[in-house]
Amino acid sequence: MTQVDVLLGLQWGDEGKGKIVDVLSPQYDLIARFQGGPNAGHTLEFDGKKFVLNTIPSGIFNEKTMNLIGNGVVIDPIILKRELDNLKAAGHDPVAKGKLVIARKAHLILPTHQLLDAANEQKMGKDKIGSTLKGIGPTYMDKTGRNGLRVGDTTLPDFKERYNKLVEKHKEILSHYEFEYDLTEKEAAFFEAIEFIKTIPHVDSEHYVNGFLKEGKKVLAEGAQGTLLDIDFGSYPFVTSSNTTTAGACTGLGIAPNRIGNVYGIFKAYCTRVGGGPFPTELDDEVGENLRQVGHEFGATTGRARRCGWIDIPALKYAIMLNGVTELIMMKADVLDGFDTIYACTHYEHNGETIDYMPYDIISVKPTPVLKAIEGWKTDVTKVNQVADIPAKLSAYIAFLEKELEVPVKYLSVGPDRVQTLELI
Ligand code: GDP
Ligand code: IMO
Ligand code: MG
Repeated sequence: MTQVDVLLGLQWGDEGKGKIVDVLSPQYDLIARFQGGPNAGHTLEFDGKKFVLNTIPSGIFNEKTMNLIGNGVVIDPIILKRELDNLKAAGHDPVAKGKLVIARKAHLILPTHQLLDAANEQKMGKDKIGSTLKGIGPTYMDKTGRNGLRVGDTTLPDFKERYNKLVEKHKEILSHYEFEYDLTEKEAAFFEAIEFIKTIPHVDSEHYVNGFLKEGKKVLAEGAQGTLLDIDFGSYPFVTSSNTTTAGACTGLGIAPNRIGNVYGIFKAYCTRVGGGPFPTELDDEVGENLRQVGHEFGATTGRARRCGWIDIPALKYAIMLNGVTELIMMKADVLDGFDTIYACTHYEHNGETIDYMPYDIISVKPTPVLKAIEGWKTDVTKVNQVADIPAKLSAYIAFLEKELEVPVKYLSVGPDRVQTLELI
């Protein structure tokens, strides 16, 4: 039997997961999303074209790879249909090619889940999570509250009744908010999309994935969001509503923990966060603005400006521990090309102590980062295509991180395109 490799974000999301899953997909027979939903925006660039995927796994552009939306994912049928329509219009039709399957046990995002998300965020005012307003939290609430509707339910004769029952419940909750809404258009689009997703094969992801493993085929689980947004281990309550960590791949696909193989942990050469919540190394100045502009740090899903800061080693160590990371992937090194000096946070000063972990009270007391200065490489690395041409100072930055993090960096990304990727070991 083979094992499932996992690729996931070690920061607050948007590390570049989509790009690297696309790069690695020729090595795999199956790419499987295991959690999250269309709050994700995974960007891929190749042959001068750019695609953003929300629900569809990033292996979709590889001819020989199958793609699975696993049971741990929450699916908005309207968004999934739109994604597939857009792909079709661009000459890629994974449904016609039989390259996409969906887990029957994946939960559905209803239009009223989005309304609940919006009503709740509106009510929280300045304390809001800064959610993507895709209905993620309310859908996972209904899942754990045992009220949810699943993909497999769409083929049952009483689907509409079940839908109405849940929507009644949601309307009752919405009546407690001062929140105006009109469901008519969304509801029509929802039922049209439901008919469409019935045409995509439904599978039991646990049998499907384990079947691949039994046949000796290679599977890569594609994470969404990032470790620091994990519902259990992230900066709660400023998190998403799923387990974004390796453990989430087990429950989100139906594989046993001892079936996990390599774990690729992906991180930016600096750090970003979108939405509310603590961010110890955040740069609220022109340096942060520079990172944002050079790195085009605007959300792939919502277009919001991403908060930017220096790399945070205590946070990365925490993420590596939680996920059992075996290999690191460093992204967006090129964004730092113009800096004379870059900085890495090695510790925090917190409540009068020097610590190297993320403290529980990070929500209420901001830790002060202890920064180490690192000489910049001051070289355009976007065209570097062999390891020998990597500037010595960039290699030194990577070696410094490897020493601190005790995990090797296997890939280095120097631009958004598929080809701007170097294999270091
Ligand atoms: P994901 O959610 O983890 O898949 O990441 P996003 O797609 O949300 O954000 C990553 C952004 O950085 C996208 O716009 C990518 O096209 C871009 N990107 C990925 N790798 C690199 C890189 O090495 N350099 C630069 N400059 N951009 C990159
Ligand atoms: P990818 O997969 C970055 C953030 C939101 C918000 C918090 C909760 O592209 O890396 P939610 O809509 O999940 O209830 O929002 O999580 N968030 C992301 N940030 N990248 C993402 O996905 C994210 N998905 C959710 O901004 O702070
Ligand atoms: Mg993203």
